[in-house]
Amino acid sequence: MTERARTTPGRRTLLGAAVLGTAALGLPGAAHATGHGGGHGRGGGHGSLRELPVPTVIGHRGASGYRPEHTLGSYQLALDMGAHIVEQDLVPTKDGHLVCRHENDITATTDVADHPGFADRRTTKTIDGVSYTGWFTEDFTLAELKTLRAKERIPGNRPDNTLYDGRWTVPTFDEVLRWADKEGRKRGRPVWLYVETKHPTYFRKLGLGLEEPLARLLRRHGRHRKNSPLILQSFEPSSVQRLARLVGTPRIVLLSGPKARPWDFVESGDPRTVADLVKPAGLKWIASYAQGIGPTLDLVIPKDASGRLTTPTTLVRDAHARGLLLHPYTLRNENGFLPADFRRGTDPNAYGDVFGACAAYFATGIDGIFADQPDTALLAAADFKGR
Ligand code: G3P
Ligand code: CA
Repeated sequence: MTERARTTPGRRTLLGAAVLGTAALGLPGAAHATGHGGGHGRGGGHGSLRELPVPTVIGHRGASGYRPEHTLGSYQLALDMGAHIVEQDLVPTKDGHLVCRHENDITATTDVADHPGFADRRTTKTIDGVSYTGWFTEDFTLAELKTLRAKERIPGNRPDNTLYDGRWTVPTFDEVLRWADKEGRKRGRPVWLYVETKHPTYFRKLGLGLEEPLARLLRRHGRHRKNSPLILQSFEPSSVQRLARLVGTPRIVLLSGPKARPWDFVESGDPRTVADLVKPAGLKWIASYAQGIGPTLDLVIPKDASGRLTTPTTLVRDAHARGLLLHPYTLRNENGFLPADFRRGTDPNAYGDVFGACAAYFATGIDGIFADQPDTALLAAADFKGR
C-alpha cells in the first residue's frame, strides 16, 4: 500500500493508471491517456506528484472515521493505516498562528462550551454569507486555544469515536509539519500532507491572511518547492493563485456543487459558478495555475433523485485533457454517506457496500480519493489495481 509507483516495476504509475483505469476499461477518461493539453502535463512537471500511488488515498482530516478529526491521533492513525497523504484544514488564531480545524467555529469539535472563562466569547458571525453562533478561532490566542481539547464532531453517527474525546489538543500546522518530518525520518520516506486554506477571503479582510504565514511555514520545513511532498488546496481560486505566487508547492482547486460560486468570486463580482469551472474553458483556466482539481464525488458521478449513482460525467476526461489531476471528496463507510445503491440495511450509521461504491468511482479514472476511513479506501484501491 505504501509502494512508490515510480520505483516498482509493473506497478501503475500515475499516467499508467489513467491508461489502464480508463482506456483499457473503455470508460470515460480514455482520452486522458493521450491528452496532455494545458501546458502542464499531469503533475505539471512536479516530479514527486508523479510518484504518488494511483489511486491515491488521502486520509480526510486524518482517519476521521475512527478518531476526532484534525488531531495528531487522527493523523497518526491515517499514516499508520498506510494513507498516501494526510489532510489538514487550516484556520488562524487571533495572534496569527495556523491551526488545524475544518472551520473556525470550534463549537462542535472542541470542549470550548465547557470552559466558563470563555463563555463571553460566544458570538454570532456571518462567514461567507452564512450566519453562525458559537466560538471562533480568530477570537482566541494560540495559548488560549491550547487549553481546549478536541472531540468527535458527529457523536450521533460515530459514538465509538467519543472514547477519544479530550485526548488531544487542537494542533498547530507547525506541530503537524514537525510530526510529519519526524515520521518521515523514521520511515525513510516523506510523509505527504494535503493542506487546505479555509475561508481565505474572510480571514484576509480581518487582517489574518492565511497564505503568507502558510508559505513561511512551508519554507521553514522545506516544503515550498514544486517537488515537495505536499499539495495545497482551496475552494477559493484566488487563494490557490496567491499561493502559486509565494511557493512552488503543487496546488489543486476544490469544487463544490455546480450551482455554488466560490466566495472570492462573490466578493470580487466574478459571475462564474462551479458549473462554469468544470467546463473546458474553466478547466483550462485552472490549469494555468494549478495541477489538479478536488471535485465533489457527485461532479464525477451524479446521483438521481433517489440518491443512486447515474452515468459518469465527462469531468475526468475533460480535466485529464487539461493535464489536471482529480482527487474527489469524500468517501465514507457509513450508509448515510453512501449512494443509495450501495447502502446495506436501514441503519444510517452501519457500514454499507463502500467497496462497491469506491470501485464505481475508481472506474471513472479518478487519480485518488479523500476518505474518512483510509484503510477501506486502500483495500478498494488494491482491489482496483489487482483487476
Ligand atoms: O479538501 C477536500 C475536502 O476535505 C473538502 O471538503 O469540507 O471536508 O474540507 P471539506
Ligand atoms: Ca478539506
